[in-house]
Amino acid sequence: MATDNATYERIAPFYDLLDLPFEYLRYRRIRPLLWAGLSGRLLDAGIGTGRNIPFYPPGAEVTGIDNSPAMLARAAARARRLGASVTLRLEDATTPDLPEATFDAAVATFLFCVLPPASQLPALRALARLVRPGGQVRLLEYVLPRDPRRRFIAGLWAPWMRWAYGAGFDRATERYFPDSGLVRLRSDYVVPDLLMRHELRRP
Ligand SMILES: C[S@@+](CC[C@H](N)C(=O)[O-])C[C@H]1O[C@@H](n2cnc3c(N)ncnc32)[C@H](O)[C@@H]1O
Repeated sequence: MATDNATYERIAPFYDLLDLPFEYLRYRRIRPLLWAGLSGRLLDAGIGTGRNIPFYPPGAEVTGIDNSPAMLARAAARARRLGASVTLRLEDATTPDLPEATFDAAVATFLFCVLPPASQLPALRALARLVRPGGQVRLLEYVLPRDPRRRFIAGLWAPWMRWAYGAGFDRATERYFPDSGLVRLRSDYVVPDLLMRHELRRP
């Protein structure tokens, strides 16, 4: 079932343009890390405009979910342009209407920094349910910098992030890991003190 997502319905036509500098200067080199070594049936949760599509492992069967029809339409257009085969579904990441253990692994890039605090645990639990036992869940998320200078700069960006993307640096998704039904394999910075990759596994 999809919930209302007014922010992304509004921003969809401009999303790729607004994100272009970050995509090319920062994200493009990081995205492949999230998909490395995965195969089989994969989930791209909060697929957005499909920025991960070029980095899907060859031969994988990927399903992308999002609760914004406008973002999904852009993901469909990107998939067509790239000649990629992706199944797209309008779903809320907190309540996806898909059977348990549908996927071998799930990846979510910049989804949890958008989800409000009340949705963090439900979304993690949903991903835990959707991957098979032993399957991985990988996240790429902004975090609140610890260094005071970086934290100050993040604070300057925060109102724009909130208005444009409904996103925040302060989601602290890690705090929900212990109750998520997932075991943490590792968490590391892919951009120092700012962007973190998490790898978790369904036991
Ligand atoms: C910041 S964008 C990231 C898009 C893409 N993963 C990327 O890396 O560019 C966040 C995406 O999550 C989607 N989203 C937000 N809340 C959601 C929810 N509850 N369920 C599913 N998708 C959601 C938004 O519509 C948007 O496409």
